[in-house]
Amino acid sequence: MSKNIRYITQANGTLTGTLRVPGDKSISHRSIMLGSLAEGETKVSGFLNGEDCLATLNAFRSMGVKITEHDATSLTITGVGLHGLKPAEHDLDMGNSGTSMRLMSGLMSGQSFDVTLTGDRSLSTRPMARVILPLTQMNADISGDEGDTPPLTIKGSTQLKSIHYDLPVASAQVKSAVLLAGLYAKGETSVTEPAPTRDHTERMLRGFGYDVITEGSTMRLSGKGQLTGQMIDVPADISSAAFFMVAASIIPHADITLQHVGVNPTRTGVIDILTLMGANIRLENEREIGGEPVADIRIQSAALKGIDIPENLVPLAIDEFPVIFIAAACAKGMTTLTGAEELRVKESDRIQVMADGLVTCGIDAKSTQDGIIIQGGTLTGGEVDSHGDHRIAMSFVIAGQVAQESIVINDCANVNTSFPNFVDSASGVGLKLKIMD
Ligand code: S3P
Repeated sequence: MSKNIRYITQANGTLTGTLRVPGDKSISHRSIMLGSLAEGETKVSGFLNGEDCLATLNAFRSMGVKITEHDATSLTITGVGLHGLKPAEHDLDMGNSGTSMRLMSGLMSGQSFDVTLTGDRSLSTRPMARVILPLTQMNADISGDEGDTPPLTIKGSTQLKSIHYDLPVASAQVKSAVLLAGLYAKGETSVTEPAPTRDHTERMLRGFGYDVITEGSTMRLSGKGQLTGQMIDVPADISSAAFFMVAASIIPHADITLQHVGVNPTRTGVIDILTLMGANIRLENEREIGGEPVADIRIQSAALKGIDIPENLVPLAIDEFPVIFIAAACAKGMTTLTGAEELRVKESDRIQVMADGLVTCGIDAKSTQDGIIIQGGTLTGGEVDSHGDHRIAMSFVIAGQVAQESIVINDCANVNTSFPNFVDSASGVGLKLKIMD
């Protein structure tokens, strides 16, 4: 159990200069997975050395993959090929990481050995039926605890069979679990998604030389191919950049440029939502690096207004809602979110935990079954609980910059899952926060 790290913010934060936030979490996970299963070497730069991605890295190391870390963010993976993993001597600990658990459940279903995937207290409550169901249809022998929660036990499979799967939820993790299992299945595996979700798995498989076809909302691949080692330059994570987009919007006279941010169109919902709210956001120096669009993003403060968030943007901004709610708290008028029940099964129940924290800080916020209604107002300050959720903790740091009094945030250790050195990075560009003694 990690110790209770608490942050305390001070009002009157500033925000100027340039910042490159850490590497994209989704791409970093996939670089380890695909690099490990490729033929030859994969060199990764800009890797996110947060605890979530390190859980994935350690899992592959314990299955016999050589991964050499040159410095905190660059590494070389010596791929063992799709059939070269060895059984680990112990269970594989996925920590706090839903992405590791769900994507690995697909990959592990194709192995010839047994494996158990475990997680921390939060991950052990998260729904896994969504992967157990399609993988079982593919012939995988996979089972969870009561209620289909982790740990997941996967028995060495004889032969996976290919399926077509209509995703009941718009989830990139479930899409990826099925496609990754499809690498080991005989014939063509396909997935249709109800709404666009992040497409890093498809893009990166293609980068590794694997044929993946996207036709509208359906993705297909055939099993038994081969992955070829790659050079991967991981862009900065738009989900981490989002904290500074909102901070720059609400802090008077702020002007910040976030460098080298991944702006894959399946991830940019936060830019669209903040722009609808009146934010001043400009993409500069747009380019494509390793199959992913990248840009520098300049944000200057602006008067925000409340909006009804379009439901089609929900999957495209799914990780950014905690900090979007802070923007809504600082906006003039009411913001309404609907169609976002998925937020209730993230690292915490992000609808309820954010509503509770906002109310503590003097904002009129009401949770609904599938969203939230926030009336913009004045943040007073107070003591909030992040429930061990990294994105909730960082969101209240942003709120604290414009609150009348300090905000004390409990249970912040998991910020390290996605944003190592957050306190130093944020302080370096003018935000006011400290780790409490
Ligand atoms: C992710 C997909 C999303 C997102 C998560 C990362 C991925 O989850 O919330 O942080 O890397 O595929 P869902 O697929 O559950 O929406």
